[in-house]
Amino acid sequence: MKKVLITGVTGQDGAYLADFLSKRGDYEVFGSYRRTSHRLFERLESLDILNKINLVRLDLNDQISINKTIKEIEPDEIYNLAAQSFVGVSFEQPMYTSEVTGLGAMRIFEAVKEYCPNSRVYQASSSEMFGNSPGIKNELTRLNPESPYGIAKVFAHKSAQHYRKAYDLFISCGILFNHESPLRGLEFVTRKITYNISRIKTNKKTKFSLGNISAKRDWGYAPEYVEAMWMMLQKDKPSEYVISTGESHSVEEFLTDAFEYAGLGDWHSYVDVDNKQYLRPSDIDELLGDNTKAIQELEWKPKIKYKELVKIMVDADLQTNLKN
Ligand code: NAP
Ligand code: GDD
Repeated sequence: MKKVLITGVTGQDGAYLADFLSKRGDYEVFGSYRRTSHRLFERLESLDILNKINLVRLDLNDQISINKTIKEIEPDEIYNLAAQSFVGVSFEQPMYTSEVTGLGAMRIFEAVKEYCPNSRVYQASSSEMFGNSPGIKNELTRLNPESPYGIAKVFAHKSAQHYRKAYDLFISCGILFNHESPLRGLEFVTRKITYNISRIKTNKKTKFSLGNISAKRDWGYAPEYVEAMWMMLQKDKPSEYVISTGESHSVEEFLTDAFEYAGLGDWHSYVDVDNKQYLRPSDIDELLGDNTKAIQELEWKPKIKYKELVKIMVDADLQTNLKN
């Protein structure tokens, strides 16, 4: 059995990756969480895998817990998924975001260099690093971040490349475009829309607010994206890979299609937009990814595209809300 450590196993991707790896049968899965005063394993419970993984306490702000974990487990593969991952909050908490999302990744690389240099590492890089660089984005597109979160991810991404080159570590970076699912956090725009639709349908709410609905994103399906992470670590050499669907759609399109699919008709009666609370000091107009390298080298291909994603998310929220 190979040993794998997933940081951020309580998050959307952490839960799906733990599910994927534990079902393969050839991995002993260790997942890291941070201590809180309440239970935070609902995603792992919803996939029925809480008892299939070994939970370890680790905080990306704490080098000691990182060193201890990596030294003790000696993982064959490490997936560094933990981060302060919400772009909106990064404007309010830029220092904290830099600590966790930027320096936190470097702390992982440092521990690998010192205690487990043969581990293969996956770093969760992001399309947010491209900012408003023009056109469709690939692995060579200029990094031009527009948020403290994007800046922190660029720091982590460049650190990954540095540790790979200077210390010969196997660190691959997945430059993932937005990926969503029924397990997406409630504050991200797709889930915010589908969750609120389910509340409106069940008469628990009448209205909600959004910010900039003209922004366009390349939205894929999270369970497929975690498989691409694994594929990267099975290659002979570490590298960078864009993971995307190759289609972009605006928040307004998502809103329109989700309301229509749920049978609520025109969203204008239920949603106010350009709400100041949700507008960002700077935003990215469009993120659209060129996944040619992943298709050619990883033989990875997105199967679930935008229209089906909308349906999956609306159906899942409606089902949950009807039960509660
Ligand atoms: P997520 O749902 O927000 O999960 C983030 C995880 O990081 C959670 O388990 C969280 O723990 C943990 N975490 C936060 N601060 C931490 C700290 N100080 N120490 C240890 N763990 C900490 O994010 P996701 O959507 O699964 O994304 C996974 C990774 O991919 C992130 O690095 C994200 O930035 C990156 N990414 C995501 C997307 C996307 O569209 N989803 C695209 C590109 C890149 P709690 O549960 O305790 O909060
Ligand atoms: N969250 C949110 N809430 N976003 C809104 C809202 C709202 O009420 N109204 C409009 N938006 C717009 C945002 O301004 C942004 O342009 C777009 O919807 C998408 O926002 P999010 O869903 O929060 O995602 P993101 O693109 O900022 O960041 C996600 O994708 C990145 C990859 O590109 C996160 O998952 C990051 O962690 C990830 O790296």
